[in-house]
Amino acid sequence: MGRTVVIVGTQWGDEGKGKVVDLLTDRAGAVVRFQGGHNAGHTLVIGDRKTVLHLVPSGAMREDVACVIGNGVVLSPSALMDEISKLESGGVKLRHRLFISDACPLILPYHVAVDKAREQKSGRNAIGTTGRGIGPAYEDKVGRRAVRVGDLLNESELRAKVEAALDFHNFMLKNYYVSDSVDVEAVIDGALQAAEQIRPMVDDVPARLRAYREQSVPLLFEGAQGALLDIDQGTYPYVTSSNTTAGGACTGSGIAPSAIDYVLGIAKAYATRVGAGPFPTELTDGIGRHLASEGNEFGATTGRPRRCGWLDAVALKRAVGLNGVSGLCITKLDVLDKVERIKICVAYRLNGADIEAPPSGAAALARCQPVYEELPGWMSPTVGVRKLDDLPAKARSYLDRVQALAQTPVHMISTGPEREDVIVISHPFG
Ligand code: GDP
Ligand code: IMO
Ligand code: MG
Repeated sequence: MGRTVVIVGTQWGDEGKGKVVDLLTDRAGAVVRFQGGHNAGHTLVIGDRKTVLHLVPSGAMREDVACVIGNGVVLSPSALMDEISKLESGGVKLRHRLFISDACPLILPYHVAVDKAREQKSGRNAIGTTGRGIGPAYEDKVGRRAVRVGDLLNESELRAKVEAALDFHNFMLKNYYVSDSVDVEAVIDGALQAAEQIRPMVDDVPARLRAYREQSVPLLFEGAQGALLDIDQGTYPYVTSSNTTAGGACTGSGIAPSAIDYVLGIAKAYATRVGAGPFPTELTDGIGRHLASEGNEFGATTGRPRRCGWLDAVALKRAVGLNGVSGLCITKLDVLDKVERIKICVAYRLNGADIEAPPSGAAALARCQPVYEELPGWMSPTVGVRKLDDLPAKARSYLDRVQALAQTPVHMISTGPEREDVIVISHPFG
């Protein structure tokens, strides 16, 4: 049997998932996205060429790899076509190997309008969403009024569904958000235009995955966002609207839980968060600014500066449990190269007591104070190191401490943005 590997973020997203997926795809036959949408921004650096993918799976840069978009993804037809065109103008041919589930809910212009209007109305309490319409599109799915990819194939069905959805959303936009309504004909025209291009890529994804398994094709499932942004398990309500944890790979694609052989959890050697919400180890001082500049911490989708802080082992241990992480990949180790004293959060202080499990929900987490352990920095370059033996002893000690606190082995270490800047201790595909 070919192995099935799931890759997930264990923090608040932007852990370097795209880089690791692209790297490991040399051993995979297909890469599958199973949740999120074009809120994701996954950066691939191959030689001196940088590519940021949002909706297209990070197998795109390897010609012989199939790219699959499962039913759990919310799909903006216009964003998809823009992304495909951009890749094509860079010489990446994709259409013949991109397969899209007919059950993906569509993100249409009214979702974007609602997302933006709601954020504006929320003022100080805004989530800081990416403004891509993600939350409203998932609400429509659960509300059983989503227009789905399959509906693009039938003009009269499409028209009826868009009209019904807009009847509701325009009422809300006009009367509740006191905002502009969205023109129904413009939405239908836009969707029909994209439909002609998307039609050949529409597929029965569960059947495709079953066939791959029967043919022993190694599969890689690519998570978007991270565990702390999970709609159920994250820092609610400051989360995204999908299940970002490994279980989402099953519900979001149609693969069975028993098919998953290995879960790779990606964690930065420090922590970042973009958007609002509690972040116990956040640094607003010079060290925070140092991490932001060394790590080039600007959102790959919105360009917003990312908040930076120390690694949070309390949250990491929780993420490891939620995902059933088999092994960790620690990324951006090189960003700590010039930090003299490195802290790791090993507990939270809440109401005078130390706790080692994160409280549920954002309000309690916001009252938690981090309890730190301090380790000496290695103060020498690790950029591009590809052998474990070539790492400074103090960097090895730091990684040893992280794996002890997370109670999970470190199987990979990323030492730079470039595809090959990596140390592989144990390969997820065996
Ligand atoms: P993703 O959303 O998890 O795929 O991560 P992003 O692409 O949004 O953000 C990760 C950023 O860090 C990108 O700019 C990557 O090119 C970069 N990156 C990934 N791994 C490393 C690493 O080991 N070292 C450094 N310095 N940068 C890295
Ligand atoms: P990748 O896949 C980091 C954050 C937003 C906001 C919250 C909700 O690149 O790791 P949404 O638009 O999803 O409703 O916003 O989630 N967010 C991300 N943060 N990386 C991402 O994706 C993110 N996708 C959404 O900033 O706080
Ligand atoms: Mg990202």
